[in-house]
Amino acid sequence: MPGTDPSHSPGSRPLPGQGRTAVVTGASSGIGAATAARLAAEGFDVVVGARRIDRLESLAASIGARALTLDVTDPASVGAFADAIDRVDVLVNNAGGAFDALPVADADLDSWSRAYDVNVLGTVRLTKALLPALRASGAADLVFVSSTAAMVSYEGGASYTAAKHGVHTLAETLRLELNGEPVRVIEIAPGMVRTDEFSLNRLGSADAADAVYRGVREPLVADDIADCIAWTVTRPHHVNIDLMVVRPLAQAAQHKVARES
Ligand SMILES: NC(=O)c1ccc[n+]([C@@H]2O[C@H](COP(=O)([O-])OP(=O)(O)OC[C@H]3O[C@@H](n4cnc5c(N)ncnc54)[C@H](OP(=O)(O)O)[C@@H]3O)[C@@H](O)[C@H]2O)c1
Repeated sequence: MPGTDPSHSPGSRPLPGQGRTAVVTGASSGIGAATAARLAAEGFDVVVGARRIDRLESLAASIGARALTLDVTDPASVGAFADAIDRVDVLVNNAGGAFDALPVADADLDSWSRAYDVNVLGTVRLTKALLPALRASGAADLVFVSSTAAMVSYEGGASYTAAKHGVHTLAETLRLELNGEPVRVIEIAPGMVRTDEFSLNRLGSADAADAVYRGVREPLVADDIADCIAWTVTRPHHVNIDLMVVRPLAQAAQHKVARES
């Protein structure tokens, strides 16, 4: 009903995302779901993609977004997803994950392939498919959710750190290749974020996942990263936040985490 939306009330300022469309991949849980909700609250028209369509549809209904099934490892799924979207001003490449904690000596090549397919190739597939629409936007944002694992290496992390280093390189390359065009390339590199599924998928048990965060006072949560993403894409468009590394206060470096007993 006209007049009920505060963004249209006389004298009020428009919301920062008004008139812009944001696509968020991996939005069925964690950081992606929080980012979709935050961008919707900032006035963006939001399109969410992931494999679990039931979860996506329930999120979409609650935030006023559009849900489309998406498997970033499947070229046909990525093609159908892109074909269903007319306009994109912001693409948040968030779908990803870690699938083991094995030393290289015991590397599980299937797990390495999986990590590469979703984090690196999946991100390339989506970016390539939606780049024409981003270019057509005239003021677009290409956001990559990498990780502090894209900046450093750690024991038992190579299948994930190698993949996230790949995402970092992808972002850096695109920033060079798109120079002079109205497409910002923004990399968000979170440290320890407590989400329901990330450590569970990596370590395979709730106990092992809980141990990651044990004694850590206030790990980051998905809303903290959503806040960072929303901030970067709502700056004036000549301001490009190239890379934002964000950790909880308790994590000074990958190996240096303050824990309370
Ligand atoms: N949590 C952390 O500590 C942390 C730190 C740094 C970076 N990150 C990165 O942040 C991103 C989100 O992590 P999170 O903690 O929110 O983990 P999460 O809850 O496990 O979320 C991962 C999301 O990716 C989606 N996804 C996985 N495979 C997919 C595929 N083939 N096609 C489409 N979507 C797919 C999942 O949805 P479906 O299963 O429904 O497809 C899910 O929505 C990831 O890229 C992760 O590497 C996380």
